[in-house]
Amino acid sequence: MQVKTLILGAGAAGMMCAAHAGPGTLVIDHAKAPGEKIRISGGGRCNFTNLDIRFDRYLGENPHFHKSAMSRYTQWDFIARVSEAGIPWHEKTLGQLFCDTSAKDIIALLRHDMDAAGADLWLRTSLADLSHADGVFTAILEREGTRHTVRARNLVLATGGKSIPKMGATGLSYDIARRFGHDITETRPALVPLAFPDGRFKPLSGVACPARAAYNGTAFEEALLFTHRGLSGPSILQISSYWREGDALSLDLLPGIDLGAILSEKRRSDGKKQIATELARHLPQRLVEYLAGEMDLAGRLGDLSDARIAEIAAALGDWQLRPGGSEGYRTAEVTLGGIATDRISSKTMMSEHLPGLYMIGEAVDVTGWLGGYNFQWAWSSGWAAGQAI
Ligand code: FDA
Repeated sequence: MQVKTLILGAGAAGMMCAAHAGPGTLVIDHAKAPGEKIRISGGGRCNFTNLDIRFDRYLGENPHFHKSAMSRYTQWDFIARVSEAGIPWHEKTLGQLFCDTSAKDIIALLRHDMDAAGADLWLRTSLADLSHADGVFTAILEREGTRHTVRARNLVLATGGKSIPKMGATGLSYDIARRFGHDITETRPALVPLAFPDGRFKPLSGVACPARAAYNGTAFEEALLFTHRGLSGPSILQISSYWREGDALSLDLLPGIDLGAILSEKRRSDGKKQIATELARHLPQRLVEYLAGEMDLAGRLGDLSDARIAEIAAALGDWQLRPGGSEGYRTAEVTLGGIATDRISSKTMMSEHLPGLYMIGEAVDVTGWLGGYNFQWAWSSGWAAGQAI
């Protein structure tokens, strides 16, 4: 069988590419449904883009690579398509756009656009063999027990990263890219909860509060969540993409609040009040109880010295914690690193030395912040490759 373009992976990027690559496109996926990560994303409502996409909110060895595709297919383009399709959406927080009803609306939109472009989709299909000669890729595909030989001028690698192997994530795109002469940068789980194997936060499991998580000059002020295994919540997921194994990070439990000034004032006006009672006005009760066990918070405000007030304010404003690790690919939203961008055209996503080979989406070494940034990269890079094909 002959096609113009074979796309490996019917995820966000692969479907977007198929919708723009024109007729003669075959998309394959080993899953039983397309866009499974879209379906579960954003708590089932898919945070499909962000109003405030900024280039410096992406990580990768080349901090400029994503700019071309993302400035030619922007969040406004995707929002326009979503609105045109009549999908209701809303902004939740920090520019994050979600479907009002269901993430399935986004999958249906992409399926519709793929059909309109004349693309075929083969599910439960895997790649058994792949070769390249005379400008043609020959793929042996296995589809429900039957083998098919497919020849294509263009091959698009869109099988995503390693996160959530239970959902079918594999390193297929990395393996193929490597085989065709592309380097793979170091890959790590990102947007991932941080683990404390000593179980120290078990008593706090379920407690949430605003916090500022900081590491090596980067900081995120968003919600913090204590879990059975350690720390989670947006502030932690965000900083996890920057944090390096073995290092400490800093938590400010009272961002924007001058605790020292508050305690000094309360010592003067309400000296008989318990320190813990005052702290519980600003922090969840269970967290205050936990902190009281960690650092002596017994006694009354009136008994606090200036030095002790400074000590408490510093402890809560710069709580140094050294995670044992991250929860890994099992729960990571994305994979940091991937196919090195140095030999890919940032305009077309095509290999610079193997015409016809394209690489898009999470498989490539471009990783966004939490909040719709990663889907936007999938849309922009998928669109750029689709246009070029
Ligand atoms: P994606 O992973 O979507 O697709 C890859 C496809 O390739 C899959 O369909 C897979 O089955 C297939 N595949 C893999 N290996 C294969 C093989 N060997 N053979 C055949 N097929 C194979 N981002 C965001 O912007 N907003 C959000 O709300 C969220 N929420 C979110 C929640 C959760 C729980 C996760 C895990 C991730 C998110 N993300 C997110 C991240 C987002 O899902 C991710 O960045 C995009 O799905 C990446 O799109 P891709 O198309 O590159 O890969």
